[in-house]
Amino acid sequence: MPRLTFIHPDGSRRIVDATVGKSVMEAARANDVRGIRAECGGECACSTCHCYVDTSWIGRLPPAKDDEAGLVEFAWEPKVGSRLTCQLLVTEALDGLILHLPERQL
Ligand code: FES
Repeated sequence: MPRLTFIHPDGSRRIVDATVGKSVMEAARANDVRGIRAECGGECACSTCHCYVDTSWIGRLPPAKDDEAGLVEFAWEPKVGSRLTCQLLVTEALDGLILHLPERQL
């Protein structure tokens, strides 16, 4: 089972087990990771599941599709590595993925 690490703005970490075939957002919500609101439930319509992918992982993830790339620009303080976690599908290849939570969502 892939393990994902979420790093909060204060530096604290949550390591969670994620189910292959579910989204990274769903893994966060299932484990009560603070800071992932996911108000639209994963429909790529709210940007409140925003995270910054660790720089060591940016090139290892599939690129964002147009709808995600468009919406992430409306997230709170987007920057290099910004992704909407509802659009990141968990695969075995994501084992060890590190994500940084933003200071806040919209
Ligand atoms: Fe709304 Fe990801 S949960 S865009």
